[in-house]
Amino acid sequence: DDAATPAPVQSSFKPIAISIADNVQVPEGYVAEPLLRWGDPLVNGAPAWIGDGNDTWQAQEMQFGDNCDGNWFFPFADGAGKPRSDRGLFVSNHEYINPEYFYAPGNDAADWRNPFSFDKVKKALAAHGVSVAEVQRGSDGKWSMVQGSVYNRRITGYTPMDVTGPAAGHALLRTAADPSGSEVLGTLNNCAAGWTPWGTYVTCEENFNGYFGWNGERTPNALENRYGVARDGFGYRWHEVDPRFDVNATPNEPNRHGWIVEIDPFNPASKPKKRTALGRFKHENAEVVVAPNGKVVVYSGDDERNEYIYKFVSDRAYKAGDAAGNRDLLESGTLYVARFDAGATAGDQKGTGVWMPLVFGQNGLTPENGFASQADVLIRTRQAADRLGATMMDRPEWITANPKKAGEVYCALTNNNRRGTTTASSNKADGSTVAGSARPAVDDANPRANNLWGSIIRWNEAGGDVTATSFDWDIFLIAGNPKKYPDRSDLRSGSAAITVDNQFNSPDGIGFDFLGRLWIQTDGSYNNSGEYDGQGNNQMLMADVLTGEVKRFLVGPSGCEVTGLTFSPDMKTMFVGIQHPGEVGGHPNAPKKTDGSTYGDNDIAREPTKFSTWPDGAAARRPRSTVLVVRRADGGVIGT
Ligand code: FEO
Ligand code: CA
Ligand code: CA
Ligand code: CA
Repeated sequence: DDAATPAPVQSSFKPIAISIADNVQVPEGYVAEPLLRWGDPLVNGAPAWIGDGNDTWQAQEMQFGDNCDGNWFFPFADGAGKPRSDRGLFVSNHEYINPEYFYAPGNDAADWRNPFSFDKVKKALAAHGVSVAEVQRGSDGKWSMVQGSVYNRRITGYTPMDVTGPAAGHALLRTAADPSGSEVLGTLNNCAAGWTPWGTYVTCEENFNGYFGWNGERTPNALENRYGVARDGFGYRWHEVDPRFDVNATPNEPNRHGWIVEIDPFNPASKPKKRTALGRFKHENAEVVVAPNGKVVVYSGDDERNEYIYKFVSDRAYKAGDAAGNRDLLESGTLYVARFDAGATAGDQKGTGVWMPLVFGQNGLTPENGFASQADVLIRTRQAADRLGATMMDRPEWITANPKKAGEVYCALTNNNRRGTTTASSNKADGSTVAGSARPAVDDANPRANNLWGSIIRWNEAGGDVTATSFDWDIFLIAGNPKKYPDRSDLRSGSAAITVDNQFNSPDGIGFDFLGRLWIQTDGSYNNSGEYDGQGNNQMLMADVLTGEVKRFLVGPSGCEVTGLTFSPDMKTMFVGIQHPGEVGGHPNAPKKTDGSTYGDNDIAREPTKFSTWPDGAAARRPRSTVLVVRRADGGVIGT
């Protein structure tokens, strides 16, 4: 009711225009400064970054990794136990590498990366995973990493980690190197993340399948097909030289990825834990909320076309200050998958929904239907969810809970070119179809065929309780292009909040700040033409969920994605991830060869600064994924 609804927070910043420049734009009165860049020395003894692609894996494993994505700032406490806003641990994911910038150029026409080698794989693995860095704000307001801090740490694609929960030790997780099925080397494709109130970081393994492939013949099994494990993977070539990534040599290794990993950044000696109770899929992020009864709820989307939205509810309750009791709360609980129903009226972009438990023995998850145990259900989470008839969504990216309204949760649905009247003939990236549906039709929750621009859906859990098994939902915002489609009754123009001045495509990172404003980061087309005319480079906006107002706050450099956001407790510092500047595909400003053709990866490796010099400018040797600090020049609260 109205009494419980907080007033909107006034925001005085002047929204900025789109940009196709190779720099970062922020509103008047704000500054944006690089804090941590790919290759920056992180741990004691780390060598300086060379930056021409010849840095070794030994150097990379001591330096800040590549493609920073989700992150979180964990404040230190002051003498009175209050969180500080000037010092803490900054933890960042490293999602993947761009070979054209990662390796030195070569001369083999067959593949410029030849000779491909185990060292090249190891360097890539060293650039993946997570970084922990102690950071501090100086008296001049600028932030820096604390050199030599005992907390500074790299977790990579080969750091040993425990497997915990119901699937630990299962036959499908055992390999020759780990017959126990309980210790995995590394975490991969760490997309976005989350944090727990007991001070740990939860990092999400997303497109792990792309690292695997096979040498020789193989007919992929149903499990491999359902998760997109394919002969050549995403072209990284790891399987050619490292048998761990050759599915013929190590068939169960893919099953050891696709999990959420819990890390204690305050204990540099701690071993990360893969939490199998939270399910195995292409996790985008992990939004952790404590329910009124103390149970811990973790929301997570499976980011692929026509995949599902999940939540986990812990068996045990969180107790503030009970470090030992809280440590393994994510070890056991119930995983649910969402069904979004049309409700009383179809076509009105709202309805009701249910959370369906993925529990062995229930809802047909039985031996007669091929499920042998709870471990089996969790390793094959996607197939279990297929069986229950979950709703296929337009690529669920980040999920975030409104801190000002209990039980209200938002999810970015980034885009989907395999729905409705599109020409694609299947509903899964691997070409298979699911649950008897050739390709999903538009529905109330995913109302556009060939959804190019994305949307943000929200739900309110019954009774405001995040452990509830039913909810009401509506679509908070539909992104679109009102410049190209001025008829506002055409869904392609977007919902009413979208204007020619604030339009964008492909919402991905979303998160509330402590004042209840919703921040939106984009990972979409930056070609600024055709369907995306007037949208410029990828960007970040602030939405007021009470008034619906949307204002553009930041625009990134050429070819980047904006992803990852966290704030200091006083809201005077915002940390923002700028991922893969200089990505070439489709950018109008990307140079062309004299014959008009586009540059190949080896051309880019040879002349990387032709495509972006961000963030190093004139001194650049390569564009670098970078964590930015954004703050107000006058030291005020961000976005007010
Ligand atoms: Fe790594 Fe779905 O973004
Ligand atoms: Ca409806
Ligand atoms: Ca993302
Ligand atoms: Ca994305």
